[in-house]
Amino acid sequence: MNILKTLQERYTTKLYDPTHRLSKEEIEQIKELLRLSPSSINSQPWAFDIISEGKLKAHLSEHSMNNKERVRTASHIIVIHVYRSVKTFEEERISTLAEGAQAFYRAKVATRGEDAVQGWMERQAYIALGVLLTALPTMGIDTTPMEGIDLQAYDSILGHAKYRPIVAVALGRRDPKDETQPTLTPKSRRTDIFL
Ligand SMILES: Cc1cc2nc3c(=O)[nH]c(=O)nc-3n(C[C@H](O)[C@H](O)[C@H](O)COP(=O)(O)O)c2cc1C
Repeated sequence: MNILKTLQERYTTKLYDPTHRLSKEEIEQIKELLRLSPSSINSQPWAFDIISEGKLKAHLSEHSMNNKERVRTASHIIVIHVYRSVKTFEEERISTLAEGAQAFYRAKVATRGEDAVQGWMERQAYIALGVLLTALPTMGIDTTPMEGIDLQAYDSILGHAKYRPIVAVALGRRDPKDETQPTLTPKSRRTDIFL
């Protein structure tokens, strides 16, 4: 698989084929991709909901703003979470790491305060998002990254004591009529980014 071609052809899917459903094998492979995502000092401050067709997905779609139809018609959605509490994160993750990693965390991250730690955890979780957006097209799976969701509503619907949602991804197969696919609408990218 040529990764450059994959990135030229992948796109944020706006219209899904509502009849297409991912297989169990594909879901298992996606779980493994998420598990293998890298993070600073291997902190893995995340957890993932993988939600298939059903009442829960329908309920979340009602709180998905402009993404409502995508959540309703996509095969699955993945909700990416980070630890709600820095204390729990430190107890459950940081304390398991090698002393060098813990020293790095104390010196470079924890000293900047709770908000900075929360932002740092979110940055790690966005790496998992990037892995998904790059890897899934190589499996022929279309995706929609979604910040445009009501995170507070997602949080109360999913109700995880330990984790809070930060971003979601819809997965499935595009409707061939989706006009935003690159064969119909060329990609728009900056060319002036190299300094
Ligand atoms: C973190 C993130 C959040 C995004 N949120 C949304 C969203 O809520 N709804 C949507 O339709 N597109 C969303 N997008 C898609 C971007 O608008 C899209 O990636 C960008 O315009 C480039 O287009 P392409 O992905 O088709 O190449 C998001 C993308 C990223 C990376």
